[in-house]
Amino acid sequence: MGEMKGLTRLTAASLLAGVALGATIAGAAELSVVSGAVGNDLAEMRQQLDRFAAESGHTVDLVSMPASTTDQFGQYRLWLSAQNRDIDVYRTDVIWAPQLAEHFVDLTPHVGDVIGGHFPAIVESQTVDGKLVAMPMYTDAPALYYRTDLLEKHGKEPPKTWEEMAATAKEIMDKERAEGNAQLWGFVFQGAAYEGLTCNGLEWITSFGGGQIVEPDGTISVNNPQSVKALDTVRGWIGTIAPPGVLAYQEEDARGVWQTGNAVFMRNWPYAYALGNSDDSAVKGKFDATTLPIGEGGDRSAATLGGWNLAVSKYSPNQEAAIELVKFLAGEEAQKFRALTNSRLPTIQALYDDPEIVEQQPLIPRWKEVFLNAVPRPSAPTKADYNEVSSEFWTAVHNTLSGSGEAESNLRRLEARLKRLQGSGW
Ligand code: GLC
Repeated sequence: MGEMKGLTRLTAASLLAGVALGATIAGAAELSVVSGAVGNDLAEMRQQLDRFAAESGHTVDLVSMPASTTDQFGQYRLWLSAQNRDIDVYRTDVIWAPQLAEHFVDLTPHVGDVIGGHFPAIVESQTVDGKLVAMPMYTDAPALYYRTDLLEKHGKEPPKTWEEMAATAKEIMDKERAEGNAQLWGFVFQGAAYEGLTCNGLEWITSFGGGQIVEPDGTISVNNPQSVKALDTVRGWIGTIAPPGVLAYQEEDARGVWQTGNAVFMRNWPYAYALGNSDDSAVKGKFDATTLPIGEGGDRSAATLGGWNLAVSKYSPNQEAAIELVKFLAGEEAQKFRALTNSRLPTIQALYDDPEIVEQQPLIPRWKEVFLNAVPRPSAPTKADYNEVSSEFWTAVHNTLSGSGEAESNLRRLEARLKRLQGSGW
């Protein structure tokens, strides 16, 4: 009975909205989009949803989730397995497509008019067995942020190798502390046991020439002397140039230390660029960003490929309106707004030449080459097992950094566990 009344009211409202706004859709829907967030992501999303609502006549509820992608994934997987009808649109991490593909609508037939404008490799990352699982909204590749004022004061250049980074961090930290800057640390990053540590760990190992954990052809490569060297190097930073608490840091914890002026270097994603330059930031105008350093024995800087997308649930009763919303949020205008306000990297190629973006967020055009050369996490070769693989990896890295076992034995054990997972078929 209650439901019937609700339906009648909805139809009346829909008709009114349709007439008033001249919308082409038959009725207005009440949509729910669920999203995790760091920094200003949710505020930016809300602004865009309000614009969408005004233009389309649909209303959109924004369900907010914890910042950790690992926590989001756990919750979404439960909702989707239970065929939850309350959420229409999910904001999805680049690594999830193969694991969640079966629960999302194939967007291919709906985006033919716009998909050609996006970077093909990003579209590819969201395509599983020919199905476009999610529409890219922004891409991600981390930077090494550094304090221009402190490096200049102490006569240092931005580092090219991890060794240089650690030496510069230590020297500046020691000298500044001696001058009374007691809170200053050399380097902050994401060391908590979650997906963010998989990204950091992959960067260390790849940049030391130790491979990509699991190679694109499925070979488990993580247990090798260069990986050991990489992890031993990082272990030496804990409590020396990095605060002991870094082993519990996610993105926002690192940014908190950095943005209050208490770190010489920070590894973080591009969103920290706009925020670092905001009016209430202690480091406004006092920093720049460069590519992550190279390790000893390695021949490249390695940035993990990140990024977020929008997927429409197969269980949504409002699929048509949900697809409209996804196209809006992934569209050129929305991506430009996201780039200008949040320094999020667009997935639409033309925006890298947009004069306003180039002028207001100069990191963005500089970062095109970085994300185009970024290292993917092994979510494609490990398919449905990626989450398990990643969690085994970050556990081994976290154990090593916190002094629970040696890098060598932890990586040997990791390899055995990954082989077992592989054996049961991925
Ligand atoms: C960023 C990346 C995402 C990654 C996450 C790890 O949000 O875009 O791909 O999984 O960081 O914390």
